[in-house]
Amino acid sequence: MNIIVAKDYAGFSEKAAQVVASQLTLKKNSVLGLATGSTPLGVYAKLIQWYKQGKLDFSSVSSVNLDEYVGLPRESDQSYYYYMNENFFKHINIDVSRTNLPNGLAADVEAECKAYDTKIKALGGIDLQLLGIGHTGHIGFNEPCEEFPKGTHRVTLDHKTIEANSRFFASEKDVPKQALTMGIQSIMSAKAVLLMANGEGKAEIMYKALCGPVTPKVPASVLQLHERLYVVGDEAALSVIKEKHPELIG
Ligand code: GLP
Repeated sequence: MNIIVAKDYAGFSEKAAQVVASQLTLKKNSVLGLATGSTPLGVYAKLIQWYKQGKLDFSSVSSVNLDEYVGLPRESDQSYYYYMNENFFKHINIDVSRTNLPNGLAADVEAECKAYDTKIKALGGIDLQLLGIGHTGHIGFNEPCEEFPKGTHRVTLDHKTIEANSRFFASEKDVPKQALTMGIQSIMSAKAVLLMANGEGKAEIMYKALCGPVTPKVPASVLQLHERLYVVGDEAALSVIKEKHPELIG
């Protein structure tokens, strides 16, 4: 595990974007596993900036997103499809036909989940998976549970997640109750993983995830088993780890 610490959100975004940029330098046609939420917004902004400066080329990149809400049409400004297009895809030269998100409106959810896993395999797997972390310790939308889920599946969101994500919706009752998410096995099969966190609100869960026992009750804790895990956080998000395990922070 490599932990990279930045002073603030700007520094965090730049350092995390550097990991992505390095991946693209090593492999032009990388398969990127992409994440949503507020955490990676600055990372996408930085990547867009470097693309506009001619430093990055996304023309041969493919992408698979972690998750999508069930029941929101793509045009909804809260769908992750909309988020990805608005905050990233439309600003870079990625071929949109090579971008993938689970379809939260699929009539046959099981078939959709299977097809998504098949798609990831057909792409040759994920080269670099970007991850945020939820307050429950979720990655993608894999909420605390009794057993790590394997492939893409439908989940019922934890009330804490609904509460946290309600800030993007008119009210809490407008937050979808379910989502489709890549499973833990899909995430762990990525060749490298970049876990990103910023802000004090993530400090305790980052400590539990990276220094606590590996348990499906803290889904992100499974990342301790990944051979190529890069963690980028700002000082606030890494403060509890620094206090209790200073030797982990460079
Ligand atoms: C969302 C997403 C996750 C994200 C997490 C944290 O619900 N499904 O992929 O990492 O919650 O969100 P934020 O970055 O806004 O704190």
